[in-house]
Amino acid sequence: MFITVYEGIIRHELPFTEGETVLTVMQNGGIESITASCGGKGACKKCSVYIKSDDFTGEALSCVTEAREGMSVEIESETRFSFAHRKNAALLGIIPQECVDRSEKLGNTALAGAISAALSEKARNELSRLQKIVSAVDLSTHSSFSTEFMDAMTFE
Ligand code: FES
Repeated sequence: MFITVYEGIIRHELPFTEGETVLTVMQNGGIESITASCGGKGACKKCSVYIKSDDFTGEALSCVTEAREGMSVEIESETRFSFAHRKNAALLGIIPQECVDRSEKLGNTALAGAISAALSEKARNELSRLQKIVSAVDLSTHSSFSTEFMDAMTFE
């Protein structure tokens, strides 16, 4: 038995056994773009997906939804288009293929960083240290960026 999972532009046919949740099937299938902060307890609502099956179409929590033959699952757009989707980012040339397994999903870290900086002297010191060794590279100002970017885009 299989379900089809659409992870951005990537389509997965994932096998499952009766009684497995959609979340378990996706995790067993190596899909990393789905978040399950509460560990599948149905509390965090982060594992929300869009499901199409014979008897249901709509948003559902993947951790409490049983996989069914022929089910189609689309990972939510907020997750899908975030840079957390490393495989898609590599396919689009946003990150090098070599970085897919060497990067990790951090989500939006701005708020967490601001809170840390406000509450912790240690965090402020670390931010100051990092500020001295990190530099921003504005690719949009590079003359060949647009051409290189378009050339690196591949669609399947
Ligand atoms: S993993 Fe938290 S609600 Fe599903």
